[in-house]
Amino acid sequence: MKVLICYFSGTGNTRKVVNKFAEALTAEGSEPTIYKIEDNNFNYNVKDYDILGIAYPVHAFNAPSIILDFAKNLEESRGQRVFILNTSGEPLKLNNISSIKLTKILAKKGYNVTNEYHYCMPYNIIFRHTDNMAYKMWKTAQEVIPYDCRELLSGKYSLLDKVFMGSFIAWLFRVEHWGGRFNGKRYKVSNNCIHCGKCVNICPTHNITLKDGEFHFGKNCLMCMRCSFLCPKSAIKIGFFNRWKVNGAYNFNNPNNYEDEVHKNYCKNSYIRYFEECKNKISQPTSEVEQEEDEEAEDVVKA
Ligand SMILES: Cc1cc2nc3c(=O)[nH]c(=O)nc-3n(C[C@H](O)[C@H](O)[C@H](O)COP(=O)(O)O)c2cc1C
Ligand code: SF4
Ligand code: SF4
Repeated sequence: MKVLICYFSGTGNTRKVVNKFAEALTAEGSEPTIYKIEDNNFNYNVKDYDILGIAYPVHAFNAPSIILDFAKNLEESRGQRVFILNTSGEPLKLNNISSIKLTKILAKKGYNVTNEYHYCMPYNIIFRHTDNMAYKMWKTAQEVIPYDCRELLSGKYSLLDKVFMGSFIAWLFRVEHWGGRFNGKRYKVSNNCIHCGKCVNICPTHNITLKDGEFHFGKNCLMCMRCSFLCPKSAIKIGFFNRWKVNGAYNFNNPNNYEDEVHKNYCKNSYIRYFEECKNKISQPTSEVEQEEDEEAEDVVKA
């Protein structure tokens, strides 16, 4: 099966998930192709693929505007299957509404969103998770992805539950799309800056320019956090949200680091439930074939 996955990732979490999903698809004998939406050179014929995937980080209970714009520019379709992958910092059910607008745009174009998969990954804004939590989230995602991938390929539909009034709530929070642009113009660079140029080079919308030693932040900020998250000197102040800034890539391989969890009890029950649900999911037989095999094995044992 040929699968085209188009993604946007601000700080790498969604990219990790997409790569793992592609690896799982390959292991199942499919042919995945990955396209990075910010490259802005989309020249695939979507009709050549059996399934189209769209992946993004949840931003204020929505898909980032770059994802909606990408969907608006897709060619018309006659019912092509689409799956959605997303990552978010907390496992609240409210995050499931992030796909509503995207699904509507796709439906208008004739696409059919049949599967949605969500993975909890560490925050790149609000507060820093511990490396232990990042490790646990990533390990969980890696375990669940092959299961989700097999479900997708089996043809079974699987959509995430949406909360009551989800469409309206998501619409309210889409204020983040223009609010982000407004806030993005208020980014400042502190004296810690070593003028390495990294932020200028990595911004997905080329929104940062450096002229005569002065930084200029334009009006195309996606609030993706890439510049402030990856700045080696934590020198970028992110406007009104500076108290929520998270700086520095996570170490996903450090399970023994529990220090400095700022909000130990924040959404505690949701995280516990998320990990429980994932554990239950991977302990289930993944396909009817496997189920039959398991039943046969049980019969042999009984005999
Ligand atoms: C502007 C912004 C808004 C966010 N809003 C949410 C949110 O509504 N819910 C949530 O759980 N996480 C939220 N997050 C956290 C990200 O979804 C999460 O860290 C994600 O894994 C980042 O993926 P990326 O590294 O691919 O950009 C937000 C992050 C940013 C930068
Ligand atoms: S990445 Fe940080 S240190 Fe490097 S130029 Fe940008 S603000 Fe300065
Ligand atoms: S300015 Fe920073 S937060 Fe805004 S789009 Fe560029 S990298 Fe992302």
